[in-house]
Amino acid sequence: MSTVALITGAASGIGAAVARRLSSRGVRCVLVDLDGEGVERLAKEVDGAWLAADVSSEEASQEAVALAESRYGRLDLVHLNAGITGRVDFAEFDLARYRKVVGVNVDGVVFGVQASVPLLARSGGGAIVATASLAGLVAFAGDPIYTMTKHAVVGLVRALAEPLAAQNIRISAVCPGFTDTPLVAEAREMFVNAGFPLLAAGDVAAAVESAFYADTPGTLLIVQPGRQPVPYRYSGVPGPAGGQRPPGAD
Ligand SMILES: NC(=O)c1ccc[n+]([C@@H]2O[C@H](COP(=O)([O-])OP(=O)(O)OC[C@H]3O[C@@H](n4cnc5c(N)ncnc54)[C@H](O)[C@@H]3O)[C@@H](O)[C@H]2O)c1
Repeated sequence: MSTVALITGAASGIGAAVARRLSSRGVRCVLVDLDGEGVERLAKEVDGAWLAADVSSEEASQEAVALAESRYGRLDLVHLNAGITGRVDFAEFDLARYRKVVGVNVDGVVFGVQASVPLLARSGGGAIVATASLAGLVAFAGDPIYTMTKHAVVGLVRALAEPLAAQNIRISAVCPGFTDTPLVAEAREMFVNAGFPLLAAGDVAAAVESAFYADTPGTLLIVQPGRQPVPYRYSGVPGPAGGQRPPGAD
C-alpha cells in the first residue's frame, strides 16, 4: 500500500520541491494551491491528484482530505506549507491585507490540522509538518505581521505535539531561512549582491522529509544554508519562586 501525502502551496517553491521529492519515493501526492494552472501542471508531473483552492477557507482543507480519501483511500503525511509574506504597513494599515496574511499563514494551518487529523488517525497515524520560518523563532523586523503568523504556527505545533502524539500523529515544523523561491524574488538581487547564501527549495524539502520522521513530537527544525537541519531548543521559563507546578502539569 502506498504512502499518501497532502501538500498545500504545492504549485511553487518549497511545496513543489516536497511533492517532487516524495513522489520520487513512490508517495502518492494530493496537491493543493490557489494557482490552479500551476497545481494541475505539477500534479501531472508527479502523477498526483490536485485541488485549486484557498487554504484560508475551512472547506478547502476538508475538500483536500476528502480527495485524498476518495482517490487513495488513506492519508499518512500532511505538509501545511502555503504561505505569503505580510507586507502590512502600520502607518497605512490595510485591514484586508492583514486578514489575508493571517488567513493563509495561520487559519490555513489550523484548518489543515483540523481537517486531516481524523483521516490520519483512521489510517493508523501519521505525520504533519508545517512550514513555519526562522521568523517563527526570531524577530524579523522587516515583516512584523509575517513574524507574528509564523510564531503562531510554532506555538500551535508545540502545543499540539502531545495531544496528537496520543493519536499516533507526529506534528512538527520546519523553520527555514531565506529560500530561493518566488516568495523572495524581489529581494533576490539584494541577497546575491550582499553575498548572502540562500537555501534551495530542495534543501528545505529534504528537511521536511526528515521532519515527517522526527522522533520527538513538536520538533522545530531550523534549516540554514550549508548546515544540516538542527532542532531548535527553547531555554524554558522560570516558574513561581516557590517552585510550585501548575495543576495538571505532571
Ligand atoms: N522563501 C523563503 O525565504 C521562506 C523562508 C521561510 C519560510 N517560508 C515559507 O515557506 C512556505 C512556502 O513558501 P515558498 O517560499 O515556497 O513560496 P512560493 O511563493 O514559491 O510558494 C507558495 C505557494 O503557496 C501558494 N499559495 C499562496 N496563498 C495560498 C492560499 N491562500 N491557498 C493555497 N495556496 C496558496 C502560492 O500560489 C504558491 O504556489 C510559506 O509558508 C513561506 O512562508 C519561505
